[in-house]
Amino acid sequence: MAANEARAGRYRIRVGCDGIEFECRESQPVLLAMCAAGRKDLPVGCRSGGCGVCRVRVLAGEYETGTMSAERVTPTQRARGEVLACQLLPRSDLDIEPAGGLADGGGRQSDYERFVARLKIIQEGEGS
Ligand code: FES
Repeated sequence: MAANEARAGRYRIRVGCDGIEFECRESQPVLLAMCAAGRKDLPVGCRSGGCGVCRVRVLAGEYETGTMSAERVTPTQRARGEVLACQLLPRSDLDIEPAGGLADGGGRQSDYERFVARLKIIQEGEGS
């Protein structure tokens, strides 16, 4: 059996340039596959396209997406290959990188701190 047959419907997702990889089924959003693999390479919020924290840039590979609001991913961002990881369905192996407000510099800890701060803002907004 060829390697491609053994992997039918399953694709390798590589995040960033440090070799982090996990597997994703073609019917599974990339963000959920990351969580199932026990990885924390991308920020996780609502998991349904509503908060925008999981925005990534697809560097290589074929994909489809579920519903993405223009508030969360503008047409300009889509044209740059930016999508929501919770709405991203692979159609080939993918190379992606974080593209949200959490990806603009700093290491993993500072990204995490900014993510927590952003969640607090969202939660405070929901409480008003
Ligand atoms: S986790 Fe909220 S839009 Fe993806």
